[in-house]
Amino acid sequence: MNVKILVAGNWKMNKTLDESISFIEALNHIPAPQCEVLLAVPFIYIKPLQDIAPEWLTIAAQNISNQDYGAYTGEISAKMLRSINVKATLIGHSERRQYYGETNAIIKEKLQLAFQNEVMPILCIGETLEERKNNLTEHVIENQLASVLTNADAIKSLHIAYEPVWAIGTGETATKDQAESIHQFIYNWLKDHISESFAKQTKILYGGSCNTQNAEELFSMPHICGGLIGGASLDFDSFKQLIEIGNNITNKNN
Ligand code: PGA
Repeated sequence: MNVKILVAGNWKMNKTLDESISFIEALNHIPAPQCEVLLAVPFIYIKPLQDIAPEWLTIAAQNISNQDYGAYTGEISAKMLRSINVKATLIGHSERRQYYGETNAIIKEKLQLAFQNEVMPILCIGETLEERKNNLTEHVIENQLASVLTNADAIKSLHIAYEPVWAIGTGETATKDQAESIHQFIYNWLKDHISESFAKQTKILYGGSCNTQNAEELFSMPHICGGLIGGASLDFDSFKQLIEIGNNITNKNN
C-alpha cells in the first residue's frame, strides 16, 4: 500500500487575516506538490482562505464542538464546517486537553460528530514528560486510543498525530527512533483493534518541534507518514521547504 507523506501545518492562534492571505497567495506560486498538504487555520480565516487556496491544499479546522447543533454559545460544529465544505479538522490537540479541559470522553464525542459529518479527523495523542519519565508512554497512548476509538463500525477514516507534549513548542524533538517506536506501537494497535487495512491507510504524523532540520529523518522512518507542524508552519519559506522534503519521500510503504 502506498501512502503519501502529509505535511500538515497548525497555525494555532496566530496571524492576522492579511498575513494569512499573503501566505496562501504565495503558496499559489509553488509547483503542485507530490505530497499531501494541509493547513489547520483559525475558524474565521477558513472561508476566505478556501476561496484563494490552490486546489492541492486542504484548509482544515483546529477543533470542533462536542455538540451537533443548538444553544452552545461560541462553539463551531462539524455540521457547520461541513456546510462550508471543510474536509478535515484536528481533534484533541494537547493544548485543548491541557488548557480547555478536553477529556478522552469529550474527544470521543467530537470524533463521532466528525465521522457523522464526514469531516476527516486528525486525532492528536501524546504523553507528558512526567509520563515518559515514568515509562508510561505506551500505556498513555493505548488509553488515548482505546477510550475514543471504541465502536469499530462507526469509525471512518482518520489520521493520527503523535505529539509528545514535552516536544510541542519547546524546540526539543523526539529522536527519530523514539518517534518511530511509538508510531509502530500505534500502527500495531490499529491493526489489532480495527484492521490491518485500516492501519495501513491511516497516516500517523509526528508533531512536536518538527522543522526543516529534522523533518527529513523523521519522515523517512517506516511508520512516520508526515508531520503536524506548529511553529515551523508559520514562516512561508520554512513551510515551503517542509513541502519539498515531503515531496522527496513519497510512496512510503507501511
Ligand atoms: P510545534 O507544534 O511544531 O510548534 O512544536 C506542533 C503542534 O502543536 O501541533
